Amino acid sequence: MKIAEHGSKQDFSKLVGTLNTLLASYLVFYQKLRVYHWNLVDKHFFTFHQVFENMYQDAQEKIDTLAERIRYLDSETVCGLGNALDASFVKDASEIPDLETMISNLIADLDILAEHERAIFEEASTYHDHGTEDLLGGFLRDIEKQVWMLKSSKQ
Ligand SMILES: [Fe+2]
Repeated sequence: MKIAEHGSKQDFSKLVGTLNTLLASYLVFYQKLRVYHWNLVDKHFFTFHQVFENMYQDAQEKIDTLAERIRYLDSETVCGLGNALDASFVKDASEIPDLETMISNLIADLDILAEHERAIFEEASTYHDHGTEDLLGGFLRDIEKQVWMLKSSKQ
């Protein structure tokens, strides 16, 4: 029984709640990446059109992995885009900025996602949920690499 393995039902629900907030944030982040991929107009179009595609494909995989982890932990995923928007720590895209602003916005969003992931990692470790720790550790490594690459493109 998964709940018995991870601690009390109440504590476990809190962990899943934070995972659902992360899932909601990734759904908003994914949509922003697609909007940037489609609407970019810049002399570096071909490079960043592809960079944003790589990033939204990565986000799509993480969304699926997170959702299935939540299901494994005997809970339901966030339901509906409106609920995801309400829960997300990442701000929705409301306009099409220039490339430099797109990159700055994405770095800021990745920092928010990483901060949230570090908090969940700590929470998961208190319940000895090593599967969730491992999952978030991988997410964090990917984010740190993406932030490094995006920052390097601004030099
Ligand atoms: Fe495309």
